Amino acid sequence: MAQQDSVKKIVLVALGVCLVCSLLVSSVAVGLAARQDENRRLDKIKNILRAADLYSDGVDVGKTYAEKVEPVLIELSSGETVGEDQFNEFLNIENFNMDEVTNHPEYGEAIPRDEDIGGISRKPKYMVVYLVKENDQLSKVILPVHGKGLWSTLYGFLSLNNDLKTVSGITFYQHAETPGLGGEVDNPRWQAIWKGKNAFDESGGLIIQVLKGQVDPSSPNAGHQIDGLAGATITTRGVDNFVKYWLTENGYGPFLNKLREGN
Ligand SMILES: Cc1cc2nc3c(=O)[nH]c(=O)nc-3n(C[C@H](O)[C@H](O)[C@H](O)COP(=O)(O)O)c2cc1C
Repeated sequence: MAQQDSVKKIVLVALGVCLVCSLLVSSVAVGLAARQDENRRLDKIKNILRAADLYSDGVDVGKTYAEKVEPVLIELSSGETVGEDQFNEFLNIENFNMDEVTNHPEYGEAIPRDEDIGGISRKPKYMVVYLVKENDQLSKVILPVHGKGLWSTLYGFLSLNNDLKTVSGITFYQHAETPGLGGEVDNPRWQAIWKGKNAFDESGGLIIQVLKGQVDPSSPNAGHQIDGLAGATITTRGVDNFVKYWLTENGYGPFLNKLREGN
């Protein structure tokens, strides 16, 4: 009888401990969720700044972003800016959620297979892009880019200088490529190679190219070529493809043409 009692007690105590622990873990998880969201938001902003050379250690990310960067909602097909009077739950700058807009039946669309070089199947019809101005003149434009690597979809930003031809920088804020292989997209040394490369030629044709292997510095094409990532040809090819996708007619082509015309 005494033995049965003690078994019952052990089970009850164990259940009690489990309950208390699970309550603790779930309340900590809920409590941290808001902070994680905020950290993700700040990390994204930091990458926007880094792409445009506006970040250095110790800089106040939120303040610099608020002072220097102007987010603009655009319609991709026309390149037109969407005015605040047309904003709604999905189409707005403050709470723009690219995945939600992509999957929205009206605001997102399927990409025909033969055009889907970025391997993303669907795309938003609208996107928030970022302008940096100095003395009211455009100094940089920062464009969100994403597409398939080997294991994951990579999400990042590509910034162009005010000539709308040369690259100011590239950064990534989300991917699941292998550290040391495809994950080298985050390596500042590799990202630095992009700076100053020609994305477009004089007549506006896209020429940027991420190679498999190293760029020959004596080649006449070196000005628009980027070294591939060693041992990560699939990620490299992915980046090459989706950068090309986003910079041409199905991506930001119409918007970049409007900027070139000065509209
Ligand atoms: C565990 C493991 C992880 C890998 N991760 C990547 C990766 O993140 N990106 C990538 O392109 N290749 C990755 N690879 C290598 C690919 O399978 C493939 O061999 C490689 O892309 C070919 O590149 P290479 O021609 O430069 O060697 C990985 C391979 C292994 C075994």
